[in-house]
Amino acid sequence: MSDRSVLLIIGGGVAAYKCLELIRLLAKRGIGARAILTRAGAEFVTPLSVGALTGDKVYTELFDLTAEAEMGHIELSRSVDLVVVAPATADLLAKAANGHANDLASTAILATDKPVLYAPAMNVRMWEHKATQRNLRQLGDDGALFVGPDEGDMACGEFGHGRLAEPPVIVEAIEAALSGGARPLTGRRVLVTAGPTHEPLDPVRYVANRSSGKQGYAIAGALARLGADVTLVSGPVALDAPAGVSLARVETAREMLAASEAALPVECAVMCAAVSDYRPEIETSHKIKKDRGGLTNIPLTENPDILQTIAHLPEGERPRLVIGFAAETDDVVAYARTKRERKNCDWMVANDVSEAGHGVMGGDVNEITIIDGEGEETWPAMPKEAVAARLAARIADALGQKGRQT
Ligand code: CTP
Repeated sequence: MSDRSVLLIIGGGVAAYKCLELIRLLAKRGIGARAILTRAGAEFVTPLSVGALTGDKVYTELFDLTAEAEMGHIELSRSVDLVVVAPATADLLAKAANGHANDLASTAILATDKPVLYAPAMNVRMWEHKATQRNLRQLGDDGALFVGPDEGDMACGEFGHGRLAEPPVIVEAIEAALSGGARPLTGRRVLVTAGPTHEPLDPVRYVANRSSGKQGYAIAGALARLGADVTLVSGPVALDAPAGVSLARVETAREMLAASEAALPVECAVMCAAVSDYRPEIETSHKIKKDRGGLTNIPLTENPDILQTIAHLPEGERPRLVIGFAAETDDVVAYARTKRERKNCDWMVANDVSEAGHGVMGGDVNEITIIDGEGEETWPAMPKEAVAARLAARIADALGQKGRQT
């Protein structure tokens, strides 16, 4: 990627500050960046900080004779391999969808002969507005590329879709676009399990756990963006299927095992689900009543271990890369190491689900250690989307290497 460069158009949104991290990450990958900072963008980050990171002049005005003499706006929009708009505000998307050219940013988007990648960021109501959705469809029809937005808490205090994708995820999308959309996992079948399982006791009660499914859904989405043919087997969660993923919804561990086996053969299995280890021995079809013995004693029986079942399949049927997750509260890495051996996984991803561990269960941040046959790798705490992007890239590398070996 070392000879590649992007034109980064920084729109006016609170998330504009994340562009500084984006430029830094691109530089680390050897991807150069030139920047256009819109007038609204300059309310959130200064040209000085952007320029210090790009190591270049920051372009701000359409009618700037000095800048035009050095590099005209048409040339600027074509001097790179990709145009990246981040944050892509509702206004920038509207202008681009309608072919406006009334400032430097919109003119560069209209004048470029290179692909344009938008990383939208805005308030959830603006994102959901029919006008924005219409503009997105138009841009999609015109060949635009998109990354995000994410769902989560917003600076304005609301919750929903509209958060700028995290910089590592944008970098991943930029690299994919720069490599001509080359998707290293194209044609590879992958199984991902996610979420909790619900183990029914009677028509109104079940045994479950706090898993939100966010990490597994993010991994399924990231793998699909790299071209994988992903089956996501999910327990009950309040999440939509990520784009391009085929979703099988299940309730119990036994259903999850059956749906996972039905998804085979796969080259890689990523078992993120927090499967309930036990289920009530008896499931009654009528509500258990307090005055008729009640629930003081619930006999439990063990559920099948899905990961262990799949990881112990005979060679030829076993996925080449089996990845387990170990949610622990104490001695996190030590337990995960043992679990990796016991469950016959290639990689075990350990995370701390104790109170001290970033509120992993249900939260948006994760801090993981990957244990494989060669050692351990601890990643800094980062949003689950970013963990997913990095893990998907690691999986693509591993399958690529295994592919070459075989
Ligand atoms: N797992 C599974 N089926 C089960 C239990 C766990 O597939 N019945 C998988 C999970 O998806 C995860 C890994 O096994 O990838 C580890 O899950 P965890 O709950 O941490 O391990 P347990 O085997 O339940 O061990 P323990 O409860 O003793 O920590």
